[in-house]
Amino acid sequence: MKSATRAFVAAFIFGASCSPSMSEGGLRDQVLRQAALKAGLVPAAATHVPVDPAYVEAGRLVFQTKKLSLDHETACASCHVDRFGSSDGIPNAVGTGGRGEGVQRLMGGGDIIPRNTLPFWGRGGVGFNVFFWDGKVDASSGEVQSQFAGAVPSDDPLVVAVHLPPAEIGEMITDSAVNDALKTESVSTAEALYSELMARLMDDPEIREKLTSATGKDVSDIVFRDAALAVASFIRENFKVRSTRFHRFVFDGEPLSAEERKGGLIFYGKGGCATCHNGAYFTDFDYHALPFPEAGFGKNGFGIDYGRFNVTLNPSDRYKFRTPPLFNVTKTAPYSHSGSVSTVADAIRIHVDPLAVYDPRKFTDVQRAEYYHALKVWSREPLAGIALDDDEIKALIAFLATLTYDSPLPVLERD
Ligand code: HEC
Ligand code: HEC
Repeated sequence: MKSATRAFVAAFIFGASCSPSMSEGGLRDQVLRQAALKAGLVPAAATHVPVDPAYVEAGRLVFQTKKLSLDHETACASCHVDRFGSSDGIPNAVGTGGRGEGVQRLMGGGDIIPRNTLPFWGRGGVGFNVFFWDGKVDASSGEVQSQFAGAVPSDDPLVVAVHLPPAEIGEMITDSAVNDALKTESVSTAEALYSELMARLMDDPEIREKLTSATGKDVSDIVFRDAALAVASFIRENFKVRSTRFHRFVFDGEPLSAEERKGGLIFYGKGGCATCHNGAYFTDFDYHALPFPEAGFGKNGFGIDYGRFNVTLNPSDRYKFRTPPLFNVTKTAPYSHSGSVSTVADAIRIHVDPLAVYDPRKFTDVQRAEYYHALKVWSREPLAGIALDDDEIKALIAFLATLTYDSPLPVLERD
């Protein structure tokens, strides 16, 4: 077909889909597009924050090196692994003392972090200002709130977030006598830790070269904040939102399958998903209580994680967690803040019908008591009264699978 003819046919088809004699499929497409726009979806490029390529290159090396842990054992890339969609494929993360990837890592005897590793898709893009399951770094008010209080190392919340893992006990520091002086996670000991780590990074000729050329500073003037800015630039660039099939459906008129469209209509319609999973990243950056049970010890011990409460100490924040963004969610099993759910289907089902997935008789008494409290808070969330059958959940999964994309650069551990 000549290109002029092709353009004419395309215009005809597209025009036809907007005419009053629109087919049922065409009408549903229009409804879905409008719903996505109304819920705040924007083209991928509108979420991009410009970064300096020299910082990205330096940041990738810092992200991959095990020198960033006091014991030389753990890199950011040890837990944030490509193969698992930049997460780690296991329910609770394994930090210091851990070896290998995925289930192998779980068996390796390292320190368990009582939270599920979060992936990086879209992190630090335009408007992405709230970090971690409990929002312990939160710049949504325009000012960065974090455990650094008045001594916050940057006004860029992603740079602040990058400061935390190397100072977190069990994540990249072991709880050993040798590290006693550095292990209290307070601001001043964190400073001592950061200078120690910085000295190590600068001993690596490749990292030293990339960091000096990115910053234009002398070796002796480079501080941890520079390395953190480099890592943040790397995360921002490598994991930035790319045009997914759903973006192309909404903004370029590309087709979805009937199943994907059905899932999309449930997502924005009767499923009520977009009341929380909305905006450019499929999150409202707010905190909600869903009855996901705990896997493992839990942040608050005894199999309990109070989530947002740990940051605000406000009792009404108990059991609440930041709504997770949904890009690449079909690649980041297991699910929830403690990784207690292994399939997307069950993750969705729990939102509306938790007892179909979990048997409370298998909980400890303490966990069951907590679970009743969590259910009470959940009953006030906008999910109450929604029912989804297996076919609808299948369609929702087909829809979520249209939100996938890849990162360009592979991420590996380095010594
Ligand atoms: C031991 C495994 C582990 C290591 C090592 C690790 N992380 Fe993480 N990461 C996690 C876990 C678990 C979470 C979720 C923690 C939470 O929300 O309480 C997380 C969350 C994050 C987040 C927040 C993402 C979001 O959606 O808000 C950022 C940013 C991050 N990590 C960056 C890093 C960087 C940079 C390094 C290296 C300096 C690193 N991580 C090392 C396990 C790890
Ligand atoms: C009331 C707000 C709210 C609504 C409505 C909602 N979600 Fe969620 N969703 C959350 C929160 C909060 C979590 C994380 C809870 C946790 O880990 O404890 C979550 C977790 C998820 C997860 C697991 C993500 C991960 O990375 O672990 C998926 C998948 C998901 N939701 C899909 C959906 C779908 C599909 C719908 C519609 C049927 C929906 N959600 C409706 C708030 C909501």
